[in-house]
Amino acid sequence: MSAQTIDTTCPSAPGTVQDVAPVLPVASGDTFVPLVDGTSVRYANLDVAASAPALASVAARVSEVLPLYASVHRGAGYLSQVSTALYEASRQSIGAFVGARADDVTIVTRNTTDSLNLLAGCVPAQADGTPGRVLVLDVEHHANFLPWQRTGAATVLTGGATVAATLDAIEGELARTPYALLAVTGASNVTGESLPVADLVRLAHDAGARVLLDGAQLVPHRRFSLEATGVDYVAFSGHKTYAPFGAGALVGRRDWLDTGTPFLAGGGAVRNVRVDATTWHPAPARHEAGSPNVIGAVALAAACEALATVDPASLAEHEATLRARLVDGLDALEGVHVVHAWDDATDPVGVVTFVVEDHDPGLVAAYLSAEHGIGVRDGRFCAHPLLSRLGLDGGAIRASVGVGTAGEEVERLIGALASFVADGPRAQYAIVENLWTVVDDPRPVPAGSGLSGLFATAAAGFIAESAGCGPLPADG
Ligand SMILES: Cc1ncc(COP(=O)(O)O)c(C=O)c1O
Repeated sequence: MSAQTIDTTCPSAPGTVQDVAPVLPVASGDTFVPLVDGTSVRYANLDVAASAPALASVAARVSEVLPLYASVHRGAGYLSQVSTALYEASRQSIGAFVGARADDVTIVTRNTTDSLNLLAGCVPAQADGTPGRVLVLDVEHHANFLPWQRTGAATVLTGGATVAATLDAIEGELARTPYALLAVTGASNVTGESLPVADLVRLAHDAGARVLLDGAQLVPHRRFSLEATGVDYVAFSGHKTYAPFGAGALVGRRDWLDTGTPFLAGGGAVRNVRVDATTWHPAPARHEAGSPNVIGAVALAAACEALATVDPASLAEHEATLRARLVDGLDALEGVHVVHAWDDATDPVGVVTFVVEDHDPGLVAAYLSAEHGIGVRDGRFCAHPLLSRLGLDGGAIRASVGVGTAGEEVERLIGALASFVADGPRAQYAIVENLWTVVDDPRPVPAGSGLSGLFATAAAGFIAESAGCGPLPADG
């Protein structure tokens, strides 16, 4: 990589967040990336809503426990016992972080998607044997949409233009039909906005339904408690909670989880197996078949413990400051529009989606990376129904911040977009395999990465599109 670097620091200007420091250090906070002009720059990771970098303390904890790692649960060896204890202690920390009640159960999963699919297999059937009904909104990430759609027992409610209108619609629907569950996002992965949890819990519980909160975008960004809110289940992902080691969690009421369909059939989930009959464990083992991800659980617990040390008000203020500057700075640019699900939402998390008039979101994202070393997300964010309702079938661009984000990164994004709007990109771009790429991209791969090129990125773009997270294909 080029030795020449760009100094990204400059004196703070009024109204900017140039001097805002990260709340906690992240492992990749000092990583430089190459630009198309041959220089390099500190990476501005404004894609933390997709996957957040590991906290430095999480990386250190993983290094610390790796020498202690051995087979878990069924090993008699000393290190096996240590690993088992580490795994089970992690479960306690993860549950405590989301305010689990004494009789709640914490299941270690791979991620939010697993957690929601798992719960979908546990919603009790109605008295007539048909699946228990679930109410969802069209604002959801596919992970909190498809598992319910697939059971055939979901009603999808179109979100209103305001929070108040949406709550009214939920209340009306809950009064019309008996629901077992209201499954709703804790914070939209498109706009960072949310519905007030206290109202959701009140409406659902008054109607005899439980509440599942998709906490993927909430739990890493706000202090959340099952006990304090009365929410029945929360699902979240380690890789969005600064612990990208393959673990996530589902935490909540034990009864459904003790009796529901085991998430996977396999060793560890069963008490006794005969050729003609099997007895399953209750939760959590019931849903954790196969060898568990000890390191992932330890990493997630370490992240939870680190986040718990941060004053909740400082956490929220850091993000609110960065988000406000993002929204104001972007909206002030000619032809740039910030997207909202609800105009009156309060306390949104640091996720901001926008469009640049007359420019493909993929081109804008490629430009930000190639000419400014800024990572953002473009596409439809696995939230097709919402993007479609908002008239954004062509996709949009999303910038997101977290505890590791410095204000300087936000200022760089606003400056880079101002330059794009005024002068367009300097490099040449073309679509290769569904992905905007730099023509004759000169950027080298990182030394020591073992890569011979970034051609796989194009393939990943193709996969993302076919997986439904990219913009709508031309043929619709
Ligand atoms: C709100 C929300 N829910 C669910 C998910 C799915 O998370 P995962 O891919 O970790 O399962 C995401 C991921 O972007 C999300 O933002």
